[in-house]
Amino acid sequence: MSLVVRILSVVSAFFIAFAHSHKHVDGSSEVRQGGLPDTWYHPADHPIHRLFQRSNPNPPGSPEWMAQYPLVWQPPIPESATPKAWLDSLIGAEEMGLIPNISIPIAIPNENPQYPQGEDPSQEPICSSTFQCRDPSDHWDAPDGFVGIGFDDGPTPASPQLYSFLQQQKLKATHFMIGMNVVSYTQIFDQAFSVLNVHTWTHPQMTTQNNTQLLAQFGWTIQVISDLTGGRVPRYWRPPYGDSDNRVRAIAKYVFNLTQIDWNHDSEDWTIADNKTTLPAVEASITEWYKGPKSPGLIILEHELTNETVSGFMDTYPILLANNWQTQSTVRLFDGPYRNAQNNTDAVSSMDFFISRSPTPTADPTSGDNRAAPPPSGTIVTVAETRLAGASGTPSTSHNSASTLSRFSIPFFLALGSHEQ
Ligand SMILES: *[C@@H]1O[C@H](CO)[C@@H](O)[C@H](O)[C@H]1NC(C)=O
Ligand SMILES: *[C@@H]1O[C@H](CO)[C@@H](O)[C@H](O)[C@H]1NC(C)=O
Ligand SMILES: *[C@@H]1O[C@H](CO)[C@@H](O)[C@H](O)[C@H]1NC(C)=O
Ligand SMILES: *[C@@H]1O[C@H](CO)[C@@H](O)[C@H](O)[C@H]1NC(C)=O
Ligand SMILES: *[C@@H]1O[C@H](CO)[C@@H](O)[C@H](O)[C@H]1NC(C)=O
Ligand SMILES: *[C@@H]1O[C@H](CO)[C@@H](O)[C@H](O)[C@H]1NC(C)=O
Ligand SMILES: [Zn+2]
Repeated sequence: MSLVVRILSVVSAFFIAFAHSHKHVDGSSEVRQGGLPDTWYHPADHPIHRLFQRSNPNPPGSPEWMAQYPLVWQPPIPESATPKAWLDSLIGAEEMGLIPNISIPIAIPNENPQYPQGEDPSQEPICSSTFQCRDPSDHWDAPDGFVGIGFDDGPTPASPQLYSFLQQQKLKATHFMIGMNVVSYTQIFDQAFSVLNVHTWTHPQMTTQNNTQLLAQFGWTIQVISDLTGGRVPRYWRPPYGDSDNRVRAIAKYVFNLTQIDWNHDSEDWTIADNKTTLPAVEASITEWYKGPKSPGLIILEHELTNETVSGFMDTYPILLANNWQTQSTVRLFDGPYRNAQNNTDAVSSMDFFISRSPTPTADPTSGDNRAAPPPSGTIVTVAETRLAGASGTPSTSHNSASTLSRFSIPFFLALGSHEQ
């Protein structure tokens, strides 16, 4: 599979215009338009676990609000802002031997990540999903007879028409959202009628990121979704480009308790803008799958990226119905969307699951960082006694991928086009 990085220069002016419109968000944005809670602000004693506490009451989308997040489109995400509670949880997991010490592959433009010679990424202990290795904890297939409804890369200016369609059809969907798009399009995010899960902060090939960068890619995306949904904590994530391996899975699982959802059919809708395919060709593929066997059920990679990708889903929906599939929001094929709430409207329950370090982490009371952890409340669950297969003893070459990623040195709104293979 070759990886394509694309730049939607044609629509960049549109994105620029849209990004600027955020500057006008004011307090009235606290009234929500979509299926989300009426207020976005949760106070300091909110039952959100302390990994994702917040207490900044600035209106979403305002400059003060945006200053809470690392506003970068190209890794590395500045680590100075990483909350101590997340770092403590990562170090705790590393100390417990839960994070496999496997090689970090090099990012190569338009190619799959490259592991050192002699290491086979399709096998244990690496088990890269780019190289079609499926870990038993991943979800690739839907149950027989089901189509999972889900879209990657939102929110974007193309999202509202999709959200209207979903609402008209009373269709529940999963949106795997890019954190930087969420901060860029808070008002569109608000219109999402369905559930919100994680598609990372800047959409990198996750296997090329080191442990602390992975922490930031997951953590900030969960943080902003939590901040905008009254404290809901996503249960699932989808890897950009489908790129994950045992090290990435372990950080997702043991630090954030996120489960990976892949796909079993790629609509390739994301290549329309590169002229690598056409909307009719995308719709022909989707039609064929809808008319095809019901086992396994379908999880199709589709995007809320442009009008055309959204049309690919909407235009073919009658064919899905005509072929007697059952539909389900992709994550609900497996379990609820959030760790601490059933849906976007019910109550948020208390939770605190992250790994504790030894000795116990303590907050610096003088730091003024309201995300720093308070002393543990005694509710910390210490997970996993087992080591992952191959967690040690693997030859490893550590590469700092930052320099090879500098090809992304373009303004963030253009990077919206970076896409799946
Ligand atoms: C991870 O990468 C970042 C950015 O390149 C770097 O600053 C940091 O030192 C690296 N951390 C580790 C543990 O290698
Ligand atoms: C795709 O084709 C159209 C029409 O020929 C052209 O205007 C556009 O620049 C092409 N886009 C890319 C990314 O090559
Ligand atoms: C996308 O579709 C919407 C709704 O149909 C329309 O208003 C908008 O102009 C379209 N955008 C582009 C870039 O074609
Ligand atoms: C949300 O979850 C609660 C608790 O399970 C349930 O009672 C309610 O009907 C759900 N709401 C929607 C819109 O699904
Ligand atoms: C992690 O998630 C799984 C599945 O959602 C759940 O059963 C388990 O209790 C969670 N673990 C912790 C420590 O919260
Ligand atoms: C990871 O593996 C490399 C190469 O085998 C080794 O140099 C390094 O010390 C290991 N790191 C840890 C934390 O075990
Ligand atoms: Zn994506």
